[in-house]
Parts: sequence; C-alpha cells; structure tokens
Amino acid sequence: MAKLKIGIVGCGNIATTKHLPNLAKFPDRCEIVAFCDIVEEKAVKAKAKYGTPDAKVFTDYKELIKMDLDAVHVCTPNRSHSEIAVAALEAGNNVMCEKPMAINSAEALAMVEAAERTGKLLTIGYQNRFRVDTQTLKKMAVSGELGDIYMAKAHALRRRGIPTWGVFTNKFEQGGGPLIDIGTHSLDITLWIMDNYKPVAVSGSTYNTLGTTLAGDEQGTEDHWDPKTYEVEDAAFGFVKFENGATVFLESSWALNTTDERQAMTTVYGTKAGAAMEFPMGAKGTDRVLRVNTVQNGRQTILEPNVSEGKSSSADLIFNYPGAEKEAITWLNALEGKGELVVKPRQAYTVTRILEAIYEAANTGKTVYIKD
Ligand SMILES: NC(=O)c1ccc[n+]([C@@H]2O[C@H](COP(=O)([O-])OP(=O)(O)OC[C@H]3O[C@@H](n4cnc5c(N)ncnc54)[C@H](O)[C@@H]3O)[C@@H](O)[C@H]2O)c1
Repeated sequence: MAKLKIGIVGCGNIATTKHLPNLAKFPDRCEIVAFCDIVEEKAVKAKAKYGTPDAKVFTDYKELIKMDLDAVHVCTPNRSHSEIAVAALEAGNNVMCEKPMAINSAEALAMVEAAERTGKLLTIGYQNRFRVDTQTLKKMAVSGELGDIYMAKAHALRRRGIPTWGVFTNKFEQGGGPLIDIGTHSLDITLWIMDNYKPVAVSGSTYNTLGTTLAGDEQGTEDHWDPKTYEVEDAAFGFVKFENGATVFLESSWALNTTDERQAMTTVYGTKAGAAMEFPMGAKGTDRVLRVNTVQNGRQTILEPNVSEGKSSSADLIFNYPGAEKEAITWLNALEGKGELVVKPRQAYTVTRILEAIYEAANTGKTVYIKD
C-alpha cells in the first residue's frame, strides 16, 4: 500500500509535540509532504525534522490544500479551525483538526456539513479518549457495568496554568479561556462515556479574577503571561441538563485557588456503579488512577483497575500527551479504510454547542435552552 501523504497547517506547539512525533512513529504508513505556517521559519524547521526531502513549505494554507494529499492536519489557533477545515474538505482532503472543534457552534456545524457533503473524513484531536483510563471506563459503560449514568462531573482544573505561548489569552483568536481550551477535553470524554449528546438546558458562570491581576511568577514557572493583555475568563463553570434527565457539572480553570488540580478527567455516577479519574494522593502527573465504586456480594466496594499508560515509546516528546499515539493509529487506520473514527464530527459539534451555551448563559445571566 502506498504511504499516506499528509500536510500540516500550523507548525507550532501541538503540531511539533503531538501530531508530528506520533505520525513519525509510522514511517511505513505515512509521510509528511507539506508544511504551512504564517511564520515561514516554523514550517521550514518542522519540515527539516519531520518532512520528506522534497516536502513543500507554504505560508498560505490555500496553496497546501491544492496538493494531492490524503489528509490535512489543522493545528492553528481556534479562530481559523473552521475556515481551514472546511476549505480542506471542499478541496477533497480528509481532515484531522485540533480541539476545540471551532470557536462557536455555527462554525462547528459548517465543518460537520462540509464533511457530510464531501464524504471526506473529519475528526477532532481529542486524544484523551484514547488514554487507558478513559478506554477502560468507556468499556465499563458500554458493558452496562455502570448502569445508567445520570450525573457526571467534568474536571478541567488548573491551580495556576495560564498558557504563556501563542494566542491563548486573546479572546478573538481563541474564543475564550480555560472553558474552550481545556473544558472541551473533559466535556468530550464525559459525554462520550455517558453516550449522551442531547443537552436541553445550560446555565453557567465565568470569572476573570486572577488572570488580569496576578504577577506571572505565581505560576511557579519561568514563563510569565502578561496580565495587561489577559482578555479571557480564568475560570468557568457550567451546569447542563439532558433530554433523558441526566446532569453534567463542568468545572474549568487556568487559575483557581483550589487544592483539586485535575484536567481532562471525569467522574460519573451510574445506577449500578460510579467511577472517578483521580491522581493518587492528589499527586499531579500522567499516572492517573480510576476508582470505581460498585457493589460486590451485596457490599459497597472500591475497585482500582490497572490503567497504567506504561512508558512513552518516544523519548523526544517535549510534552507527553497520553493517548496521542493511539489517536494517530486510529486516524491512519481510518484513512487506510481499516477502521472507524472514534471522535465523530457530530459529537464534537455538541461539545462546542454546550461550551458556547455556558458562555452565553454566563453573559446573559439566563439559562440557555437548546432545541436543535
Ligand atoms: N490536543 C491538545 O491537548 C492540545 C494541546 C495544545 C494545543 N491544542 C490546540 O492546538 C491549536 C494550536 O495550539 P498551539 O499550542 O500549537 O499554538 P501555537 O501558537 O504554538 O501554534 C499555532 C501555529 O499556527 C500558526 N498559524 C496561525 N494562524 C495560521 C494560519 N492561518 N495558517 C497557518 N498557520 C497559522 C502560528 O504561527 C503558530 O505557529 C489550538 O487550537 C489549541 O487549542 C491542543
């Protein structure tokens, strides 16, 4: 089978720490033949490390999508996800787009419709679905072990973790702060485990109390963000009711005076059992545990299935994104016609719709009713 030809749009952090190193693990299956970034030297640098010798470099994605490619990866800031993904689909490409799907639900819907119209594949970079703990919990939910899940908490809490690179604190470019940035991951895994995509009513609050006021060094790193240009919320909370009566509470922060630092995690409560993704003894790291509250022999029991990720197979990952290798494998399988996508466009649309409704509810002070 010929190698899949892939083009990358946006050669910043996520492209060079998740997409490219994970695709590079499968040199027999794919090759990166095109790189685009509005900052040319970023595309040149990424090509030098990950590209074929004759890979093309562009500063305008419209040129890249004209090439004969099997897939385009969209790794730009949130503002341009929809525009680039729709254009790439219309030009006949399959698309892997980074999260969040889009800056609002209208732009997300345009992506869903473009994929349906063209018959091309579209998926979103929710790699946390592929972690061992998430997969274990999903299997438990599908097998019926949890019963009906009627309540869940989506956790996306950082104590101090305001991104210091890129345009993350720019409202126009990103659409918001921690809610759209990391709340999107925890809501995605929560809805997927519940298999519930019918929200009907959403309320929410956003706060900007720390991002504009704190000195950068409270983050405990050498990198500082600029409080003077901080435009987005630093914490957001949402309460979502679903058609079947289920409820989800979503908590997200980049800066919050909390002791409970958990992101891309969920707690679910079912009629037969419940489960929580946690860090052991509150320790931060990738070694999450899954604690299951169930009943065995008529008694309440807590189980801890082994959900270890093992060691990363790639030593050169600057950031370790658990689940990212499996995400890449699933994507390559789908492109080769050997497997189904796991992250479906309409599911990602619903995540975007709920996030938008939380922002709207926070701005208006009113509950948002979703009828579509
Ligand atoms: N899956 C995850 O866990 C995860 C983690 C981090 C970031 N992300 C997502 O990845 C996206 C990018 O984030 P990042 O951290 O890589 O940011 P970044 O700023 O490091 O990289 C973005 C790159 O896109 C380039 N760019 C901007 N507009 C462009 C355009 N129109 N055409 C071509 N290139 C363009 C920029 O020059 C930059 O190099 C965001 O949507 C973010 O939410 C996902």
